[in-house]
Amino acid sequence: MNEAKHIAIIMDGNGRWAEKHGKKRTYGHEAGAKVVKEITKYCAQNQSIERLTLYAFSTENWKRPRLEVEYLMKLLQKYLESELQTYLQNNIRFEPIGDIKAFSKSLQKTIEGVKQKTAHCDGLVQSIALNYGARDEIVRAINTLKKTQGEITQDSLRDALDCKTDVDLLIRTGGDHRLSNFLLWQAAYAELFFVDTLWPDFTAQELEKILKNFKKIERRFGGLK
Ligand code: IPE
Ligand code: IPE
Ligand code: MG
Repeated sequence: MNEAKHIAIIMDGNGRWAEKHGKKRTYGHEAGAKVVKEITKYCAQNQSIERLTLYAFSTENWKRPRLEVEYLMKLLQKYLESELQTYLQNNIRFEPIGDIKAFSKSLQKTIEGVKQKTAHCDGLVQSIALNYGARDEIVRAINTLKKTQGEITQDSLRDALDCKTDVDLLIRTGGDHRLSNFLLWQAAYAELFFVDTLWPDFTAQELEKILKNFKKIERRFGGLK
């Protein structure tokens, strides 16, 4: 039976969820943050899950209206500040991926602070993708490798990426069937699950159901049964 050691989630559908409830899109992001907490805690309690990577802000999301982008930045700051206790109490290590240099100094400081304060935690790794795009990640990795000697190999390129761990199970909520520039290298052999549930409606029970189905899949990695 398969165990999903690394789960990655494209948390999509916050805006539509809010509109469905007659509210502004930002209301959906706030509701979505609560689900991040619930799903993270569930994964932290599940011994076989080692890493949870959550797509929170893509390199393309800067195209959104300025007010929505500003709201997302504030929400992220508030979330990290208020959740530090949750990370520590649940032995969760926070590891951001993406190019956070584009964020304000104060947000960068908060991100780095939570990373350092949870660095000793050896339970679940919760990795939040912030100003993350897989193409950007790969280009940054190649630029890093250009400064070193020798040929680029699959291992050296992987080690230069922000996220160095293959994804076992990739879930996208919100009904669309695309990757939107998320973990293109790491998801090479991921099992893909697309669900219609909008992210603020996603629950630990639904994740549990997906994990049950994941376990039954025969993963061949190009080999034979
Ligand atoms: C995902 O929800 C969260 C972010 C991209 C920040 P959306 O904001 O994309 O919600 P929809 O897809 O418009 O409903
Ligand atoms: C993907 O959702 C990015 C995140 C969940 C952070 P989007 O809503 O930005 O993706 P598209 O625009 O539908 O591809
Ligand atoms: Mg969306």
